[in-house]
Amino acid sequence: MSKDARADYYSNSENIRPESMKRIETKEQADEFIDEQVALLRKQIGEGKVLLALSGGVDSSVVAALLIKAVGKQLTCIHVNHGLMRKGESQMVLDVFEKQLGANLIYIDASDRFLDLLEGVSDPEKKRKIIGGEFIKVFDEEAAKLEGVGFLGQGTIYPDILESKDGIKAHHNVGGLPEDVKMELVEPLKLLFKDEVRVVGSALGLPDEMVNRQPFPGPGLGVRCTGAITRDRLEALRESDAILREEFKKAGLDKKVWQYFTVVPDLKATGVKDGKRAFEWVCIIRAVNTKDAMSATIERIDWELLEKISYRITNEVKGINRCLYDVTSKPTGTIEFE
Ligand code: XMP
Repeated sequence: MSKDARADYYSNSENIRPESMKRIETKEQADEFIDEQVALLRKQIGEGKVLLALSGGVDSSVVAALLIKAVGKQLTCIHVNHGLMRKGESQMVLDVFEKQLGANLIYIDASDRFLDLLEGVSDPEKKRKIIGGEFIKVFDEEAAKLEGVGFLGQGTIYPDILESKDGIKAHHNVGGLPEDVKMELVEPLKLLFKDEVRVVGSALGLPDEMVNRQPFPGPGLGVRCTGAITRDRLEALRESDAILREEFKKAGLDKKVWQYFTVVPDLKATGVKDGKRAFEWVCIIRAVNTKDAMSATIERIDWELLEKISYRITNEVKGINRCLYDVTSKPTGTIEFE
């Protein structure tokens, strides 16, 4: 097939992936895709300016890296830290995109705004609405400060298109964007499946940690600090999650298990620390495998590793004195707790 014919696929406005479109599996195929996209993006954007909400997730990161390659400083990325990110996540976005790739990156630490709004809110759907709504507000406020932006980059991938076609979910990215967006959309990944996006991300030189990361929900740690979020419990959650991720990586489970995280509910238990009674939070460890997230089974973790993780969390994290392992599959449990 000619290069032009392939380019037509990627830019087709029908949003249908032709059956004859080859899967991107190798570095060479990814390089070819990147070259074609860079040309297409330059053609679409010309001298224009592009804006992108960069969460640090796989899709937005790969779109950012592609756009930087295609139009460099014509792209402005906005990274909103809603205070519910995992440990080190925002820093990684800054390190990779600002320091390594030289992107125009606006970093907004909106943690206080989000956490103040969430204070005392315990209903999971209300929490989601607040987080999604505030995200749009913060992004809009920052976008309004920029002049002459004609394009909006989005990390839409093919499953998003399929799901919106089937009416499963509305097609939007990064917690949803305003309905009245006047900018032209730039969606270079819209015909790719997730595994192809990862191959392209690696070919663009993005770190493995970013490209092969497990799914992380838009509302972030907010749905794992169950009930009304408090800053101290959120911090305990962040630290326990970091320990779990570190130990999973050391054990090679980060490559095997689909999703793994800790949950710190508003539940305290009696324990003993330093010879004294300690009334502290309970931390729940969850690790699941699934194909499509519609159903899931638990990872049967080695006892020794579980004990090690429990020992580290209860000894290193302030406010936690007990760890539990969640052995519930989906159904009846969902993957997340909220
Ligand atoms: P559940 O808990 O429904 O999760 O079994 C299935 C998958 O979806 C992710 N998830 C979310 N992702 N916003 C997201 O972007 C959300 O509000 C949300 N809730 C759940 C979850 O992490 C799992 O991968």
